[in-house]
Amino acid sequence: MTDQTKTVSPEADKDVSPEAGKDRVVIFDTTLRDGEQSPGATMTHEEKLEIAGLLDDMGVDIIEAGFPIASEGDFRAVSEIAKRAKQATICGLARAHIKDIDRAWEAVKHAASPRIHTFIGTSPLHRAIPNLTQDEMAERIHETVTHARNLCDDVQWSPMDATRTEWDYLRRVVEIAIKAGATTINIPDTVGYTAPVESADLIRRLIADVPGADEVVFATHCHNDLGLATANALAAVAGGARQIECTINGLGERAGNTALEEVVMALKVRGDIMPFYTQVDSRKIMNISRRVATVSGFPVQYNKAIVGKNAFAHESGIHQDGMLKNAETFEIMRPADVGLAETSIVLGKHSGRAALRAKLKDLGYELAENQLNDMFVRFKELADRKKEVYDEDLIALMRAGEDEA
Ligand code: KIV
Ligand code: ZN
Repeated sequence: MTDQTKTVSPEADKDVSPEAGKDRVVIFDTTLRDGEQSPGATMTHEEKLEIAGLLDDMGVDIIEAGFPIASEGDFRAVSEIAKRAKQATICGLARAHIKDIDRAWEAVKHAASPRIHTFIGTSPLHRAIPNLTQDEMAERIHETVTHARNLCDDVQWSPMDATRTEWDYLRRVVEIAIKAGATTINIPDTVGYTAPVESADLIRRLIADVPGADEVVFATHCHNDLGLATANALAAVAGGARQIECTINGLGERAGNTALEEVVMALKVRGDIMPFYTQVDSRKIMNISRRVATVSGFPVQYNKAIVGKNAFAHESGIHQDGMLKNAETFEIMRPADVGLAETSIVLGKHSGRAALRAKLKDLGYELAENQLNDMFVRFKELADRKKEVYDEDLIALMRAGEDEA
């Protein structure tokens, strides 16, 4: 018998998986915490458990399940999610107060992999609220991160409004948090103020300048006030961040947070220029997007990237004709990659003969050229009056034509 291992060429040892040569980016989902903080997006206990289960199942690494001190309901939800989690780390948020941190720990400690996330606003505007001097705040950070680390091996610390914090002070407090035992340093762009070049630069400078920075993971947490949340998150990754904080459908306060589906698909589709990957199963995106829209009561805008109703829909004749010949003409992702059965060819006044013929064929009508011409005229008349022409409309037009004949 031949020894197979000896006949295999060195080429066969090469890793040809889509992840080969790429760095992993950890996905931290905060739909149930920052997302649920959107005015009006409150979810019930059962709904939170369902969403957490879907996040866990799709391969999200860390689920920020809530803010345990905020309410009895949040505490209960975080505790229950922690008990049920199968693979994800479960995180609870806490302000820089010992009682908050204790409460967060009480909730997450049931998880196989628990995390405490503690934060304080470090920019001048935010320091003015508790009226703390820079030194007093530095002392508070040291005390609270040390306390969290004594409870839990996995501690995330965030300087809220980091992107509007003075550079010297930011550098100083990040160093304090690392020395006190933080294992992840999250840099929030709390008010969506930063721009992509700045976002990358800030992370790069922190990693280069802060002693101990290479021992921790840097995270990016972006808000979408200027519509830049996804761009800023990806720029931060280029700068060295290896955790992206995001929410399903970009749910979040004001204009929302970085959308999970956007960063996951951007890294998947453009891995050629962004050599990073996540372990999220993108085929589960559409289902969770719909569930989050339903339970939060926040519908997804039609033209929302990846999950909007029109993200894989085509109405214009030129696009439809291209799509019928080769889907890559007007789509950079396959609908199946995000869990959608198929592209939708919407018939309306911009549609052409090729799409009408294809749709009629789907409905069981094979028309000769002169019949199609006749039908096309009647279809256009109807499309001028109606935004969208549905299958039933076409069937009615066909029947009316048959009656006339
Ligand atoms: O936007 C923000 O700064 C936050 C922190 C609590 C991380 O959500
Ligand atoms: Zn936030």
